[in-house]
Amino acid sequence: MNIKRETFGQTPDGRDVILFTLANGQNMVVKIMNYGGIITAIQAPDKDGNLADIVLGFNTFKEYQDGHPYFGALVGRYANRIAQGRFALNNQTYQLAINNGPNHIHGGISGFDKVVWEAHEFMNGAEAGVELQYHSRDGEEGYPGNLAVKVRYSLNDNNELRITYQATSDKPTIINLTQHSYFNLSGEGSGDILDHEIAINADSFTVVDADLIPTGEIRSVKGSPLDFTTPYRIGDRIQNVPGGYDHNYVLNKSQNELALAAQVRDPKSGRRMEVYTTQPGIQLYTANFLDGTLGGKSGKAYQKHGAFCLETQHFPDSPNQPHFPATVLQPGETYDQVTVYKFNV
Ligand code: BGC
Repeated sequence: MNIKRETFGQTPDGRDVILFTLANGQNMVVKIMNYGGIITAIQAPDKDGNLADIVLGFNTFKEYQDGHPYFGALVGRYANRIAQGRFALNNQTYQLAINNGPNHIHGGISGFDKVVWEAHEFMNGAEAGVELQYHSRDGEEGYPGNLAVKVRYSLNDNNELRITYQATSDKPTIINLTQHSYFNLSGEGSGDILDHEIAINADSFTVVDADLIPTGEIRSVKGSPLDFTTPYRIGDRIQNVPGGYDHNYVLNKSQNELALAAQVRDPKSGRRMEVYTTQPGIQLYTANFLDGTLGGKSGKAYQKHGAFCLETQHFPDSPNQPHFPATVLQPGETYDQVTVYKFNV
């Protein structure tokens, strides 16, 4: 295991942005910066041992600042959408920033993906990692409570990238953190992911309206193009899914259990990825809104369906859907979630 630290850039207010490079003994490399907790690169071997960078992103800090759809980002306080950016807690209504049509998405205008986190590296025998901390003040982006957040990224020699999330608040609040990496197991910029095969351990999904806000209905995937209880190529049925996949799956697992949520295989490179999580849901998003205007690390344009995201999460708009697993965090409680992305061939 090995960790390197270098300066990646500076924010307009003069804060240093640090890039951490974690490397294991299996030729895997993960790069993380303290701005937005963004994973900028994941290098992994293919079936012949050739390395490729399998996440979308940029070479320079400037490009990250110029705007992008959450490439590699640590998303909070609330990943995914909240209808009208509004919710009630203890008879008080809170209005969050509106930044996605009429709704709130991914923590607001300046969410956790756009702040500088305090960061330090750590290493023990079995893993190398980075610990990130951020204090989100009461009222930030409209959310109640001073929130202390700690996120740890670590890599081990089993090619597991483990992400642990912890948070406490001094007032009742809501929270839903995720990781928004865009994966292409053939390598970033190498075309679309329609040939990737995916399996998702979910018998049902949350039905959404035209603005991707849950209607409240939890529907079986059976007989629909959303059924990945057995593996399918992403491209097999995507033409029957208007706009492409952008759905929250209700995972088959018990609460808080760290369980296998999804598996992906790229037949071309032989690379495989498994996702394990304690969270109740996972968003499959097939980069439907990429349109070739952003160019990435290898200079190639990022096209529609040029990547997939598997964002572990609580369900969208849970604060307004009492029958969804709760996203309320009370003072004295600790929000505690784990997600593991495991790579092999
Ligand atoms: C959402 C998409 C959105 C993307 C980028 C995903 O988590 O499900 O609808 O376009 O993030 O914001």
